[in-house]
Amino acid sequence: MRVLVTGGAGYIGSFMTKRLLDYGHEVVVFDSLERGYRNAVDTRAKFIQGDIKNPDSLEILFGSQAIDAVMHFAGYISVEESTKNPQMYHLNNTIGTENLLKAMIEFGQVDKFIFSSTAAVYGNPIKTPIPEDHPKNPTSPYGKSKLEVEEMLQIFGEEQRLNFVSLRYFNAAGAAVDASMGEAHEPETHIIPLGILAALKGTEFSLYGTDYNTPDGTCVRDYIHVIDLVEAHILALNYLDREKGGFFYNVGVGRGYSNKEVIDMIKKVSGKDLKVKVENRRAGDPQVLIADATRIQRELGFNPNVSDLETIVKTAFLWHQKSSKYEIVL
Ligand SMILES: NC(=O)c1ccc[n+]([C@@H]2O[C@H](COP(=O)([O-])OP(=O)(O)OC[C@H]3O[C@@H](n4cnc5c(N)ncnc54)[C@H](O)[C@@H]3O)[C@@H](O)[C@H]2O)c1
Repeated sequence: MRVLVTGGAGYIGSFMTKRLLDYGHEVVVFDSLERGYRNAVDTRAKFIQGDIKNPDSLEILFGSQAIDAVMHFAGYISVEESTKNPQMYHLNNTIGTENLLKAMIEFGQVDKFIFSSTAAVYGNPIKTPIPEDHPKNPTSPYGKSKLEVEEMLQIFGEEQRLNFVSLRYFNAAGAAVDASMGEAHEPETHIIPLGILAALKGTEFSLYGTDYNTPDGTCVRDYIHVIDLVEAHILALNYLDREKGGFFYNVGVGRGYSNKEVIDMIKKVSGKDLKVKVENRRAGDPQVLIADATRIQRELGFNPNVSDLETIVKTAFLWHQKSSKYEIVL
């Protein structure tokens, strides 16, 4: 297949691009490079620089490229940034995706769409682990922008016969085992890279909240290794080759690790004593976020096998320890 990967110069999209190419697919990457790295894109892919906020550039894309399926990673990803600038998230994530869907449908050639959604669509869970039919009450403009896209997908699906899979990721983490690719968000907001970077630089690491109603008092999250996460997309793509319709899946492991467990693992893997500064809880952080991952296991045969905390932290540590990252090589 010829697959369009939007956001293919970012963290997850760059792993996806490599995985698709290794599977024998052709890949077109479309990325503005606003938050990605040209150098992270596999050289076997065709790269087009463009912005989903700009309908003209999408017309040129679909008018010039034969595409069989779209995997849509392009977007902004920070919950915190979205609370400070909700409009920016609405424009990029919601309206940008609407532009993309309209262009796909207008050119009439693509009917398979795989969307990077998030556990943030659920908001504060009233049930744990969280099943896909859990009520959707996002607590941030980021989560809201993703939920709006899911609602749009359902409408486009019903009206225009678009077939789609929306994958609601829990916490993506980890890097390539050979440390050739990894997470390089700027600024970084995720706990594993932040903890590793603090351990490497000898700086303080802020731990938000130790008085939650959890076994050790810190928040609990479900981590999925980026290698397992991209595998879920391959399964989704194959599924859309056989099945028509719209499908929603949680992508997690169904098991949580507390922030303290993450910190202990970073100390163990790095051999360094992480200086932890306990801070107050952050507004809007749910205490436990764990996926009910049974639907994706049952229907797509998803079987994550590198998402144990030690493998995630080890691979991420090797990546961050490397002096030459994408931005330096550029
Ligand atoms: N990282 C996670 O833990 C996580 C969790 C849940 C969902 N997601 C979703 O997965 C997707 C990928 O996340 P990531 O961690 O790889 O993010 P990332 O920031 O590393 O990559 C996003 C890429 O999209 C590009 N981009 C942004 N806006 C664009 C636009 N308007 N037009 C074209 N390109 C644009 C950026 O330049 C960047 O290369 C996002 O949609 C995110 O919401 C990520």
